[in-house]
Amino acid sequence: MNTRVVASGRVDDEAQYEAGLRPRSLGEYIGQDRVRDNLEVSIAAARGRGEALDHVLLYGPPGLGKTTLAYVIGNEMGVAVRATAGPVIEKPGDLAAMLTNLQPHEILFIDEIHRMAPNIEEILYPAMEDYELDIVIGQGPSARSVKVPLPKFTLVGATTRAGLLTGPLRARFGIVHRLDFYEERDIEEIVRRSARILGVPIEESAGREIARRARGTPRIANRLLRRVRDYAQVRADGTVTADVARAALELLEVDDQGFDEVDRKLLRTIIDKFGGGPVGVNSLAAAISEERDAIEDIYEPFLIQAGFLDRTPRGRVATARAYQYFGLDAPGRDSRLW
Ligand code: ADE
Repeated sequence: MNTRVVASGRVDDEAQYEAGLRPRSLGEYIGQDRVRDNLEVSIAAARGRGEALDHVLLYGPPGLGKTTLAYVIGNEMGVAVRATAGPVIEKPGDLAAMLTNLQPHEILFIDEIHRMAPNIEEILYPAMEDYELDIVIGQGPSARSVKVPLPKFTLVGATTRAGLLTGPLRARFGIVHRLDFYEERDIEEIVRRSARILGVPIEESAGREIARRARGTPRIANRLLRRVRDYAQVRADGTVTADVARAALELLEVDDQGFDEVDRKLLRTIIDKFGGGPVGVNSLAAAISEERDAIEDIYEPFLIQAGFLDRTPRGRVATARAYQYFGLDAPGRDSRLW
C-alpha cells in the first residue's frame, strides 16, 4: 500500500503525540464496532469494483476519532489523504486548487465541514455529485460558465454538529456515520495499546482507572495517560500503578466521573445561579465565561450522556444526579418548571 499522508496545520506536541498513537487500519481500530463494520463493507465493495469510495460524513463529539478514521479509510483504500478544514478555506480558488490536484480515488478530508463559507460550499455540490468544477469566467453579460472535469475522488467530511450542515451538502454524502462515546472497556484497551506503543509500564488496574475518567473519549484517555506517565516518572519509579494513576489524576483535578473544573462549574452554576434550570445556553455561557460553542460541542454531549444534564425546549436543566454529585438534595420536579 502506497499511502502518502498530508497533515493539516496543527502540529503541536499533543497533536504529534496523538498522531503516533493513531490506529492506521480498521484492524487496529478499537471500538465503534457498528461504524467499523459498515466501513469495512463499503471499502471492500468499492475496492472490489475498482471505484472511488462514496463520500463519507463522520459526525459526533470531538476526540472520538473522526480524523483518525479519515486516515484509516485512506490507508484501507490504498490512497493519499489531503486534509484541510472548513474555516481555513478562504477563497473558492483554494478549494478548486485542492480538488484539481487530487489523483483518482484520493481522499479530500475536510474537518469542521459545517464551518465552510456558503460560496465555497457551493463548489462542492457539482464536485461531489458529478465530479465537475463549475467555473465562471469573465463578468457581466459576457460571463460564461465552464465545466472542468475532476478525478473521481472521495470527500470525507467531519463535524461535531451535523445539525449545522445545510441540507444540500448533507444529501450528497452516501455514507453517514455518527461516532458515539466509547464503552469503558474499549477505552481501557486503547489505554493499554497506547501504553504499549509509548513503552510505559502500566498495571491493568491503572489502565482501568484512567479509562473510567476519560469520558468515553480516546483523546482524553491518551492525554491522561501522558500526564500519569509524567507523574510516575517524577514521583514514583516510572511504573503506572493504580495508586500512581489515582494520585496523578487527583493532582489534575480529574475526579471519579472524569469531570474537570469546567464541568463542575457548569453544573454548579445551573444549580446555584439558575435554581437548577432551565437556563438558556447563552446565559449559561455568559455566567461561566465559556464560549457557547465549547459548551454545546464539548461539555454538554458528555454531561447529557452521563445523565447529569438535560436539554429541554426551555433550556438546560441539572438532573437529580447532578445534585447528588455535589451532595445536595434535588428539588422536586414541580419546582423546576418543566
Ligand atoms: N487511539 C485513538 N483512538 C483509537 C481507537 N479508536 N482505536 C485504537 N487506538 C486509538
